[in-house]
Amino acid sequence: MDWGMRNRLSKLIQRDGRALFIPIDHGYFQGPTRKLEKPGETIKPLLPYADAIMLTRGILRNCIDPTVDKPIILRVSGGTSMARRDELDQEGQITSVREAIRLNACAVSMSIFVGAPGEHQTLLNFARLVDECEDYGIPTMAVTAVGAELEKRDARYLALASRIAAELGARVVKTYYCEEGFEKVVDGCPVPIVIAGGPKVDSELEVFNWVYDAIQKGAIGVNLGRNIWQHDYPVAMAKAIRAIIHENATPKEAQQVFEETKRATTSG
Ligand code: 5RP
Repeated sequence: MDWGMRNRLSKLIQRDGRALFIPIDHGYFQGPTRKLEKPGETIKPLLPYADAIMLTRGILRNCIDPTVDKPIILRVSGGTSMARRDELDQEGQITSVREAIRLNACAVSMSIFVGAPGEHQTLLNFARLVDECEDYGIPTMAVTAVGAELEKRDARYLALASRIAAELGARVVKTYYCEEGFEKVVDGCPVPIVIAGGPKVDSELEVFNWVYDAIQKGAIGVNLGRNIWQHDYPVAMAKAIRAIIHENATPKEAQQVFEETKRATTSG
């Protein structure tokens, strides 16, 4: 692997082999998502706990201080919207690799929609992106997207989509966690896997359980958005999840970190 690729990957994946990415890219098809109306304000208190942040060029340019000392994962796919839910899988490349370099991105991310009408188009888009990014030593993160079909998130589907992403050359794969058979997803994918959370769930312990179990089964970390920043205590969530990822905390220990941070926030 070339020096530039290794250097960028080492900024994303920490020395312990783990990673906590916080995505704030949701507006690229959802518009002003709840608690992400002002993305710069949402992410600011969370930056100390993130190993990298994922976002589009528009939000990067307009909402993030360019002196920020955090690796950027630039989302370069899109072109669809919630206004046409049936066509969410029809993404194209919306940002060039040249622009990613100009913005000093550490990696780029693109969605692939395996099993959807847009499968062929999005897989070819991703393969082309890999070709170009490899020329410049830029890691690609494939986002195994399910659009509005959240029920697709079972081990069989996730293993299929993740393996295809790796076969096409992804350096990192972002997929979802599933309770049954997640180890099959990891075992069948020869590149590091991070998990997303999907829509916010009611209990923080549920999130800590997913993250912990995913790590035990071989994921290197998370690319977790709504279950951090849509929570009433986002910093407490980020700290607790960081403890699982980088300090091998159990879900119970993570809950303690969460409660302590929440208490300090409330009393402060
Ligand atoms: C959709 C994405 C998100 O970055 C990804 O889904 C992670 O966010 P969340 O944990 O909120 O699902 O690719 O825009």
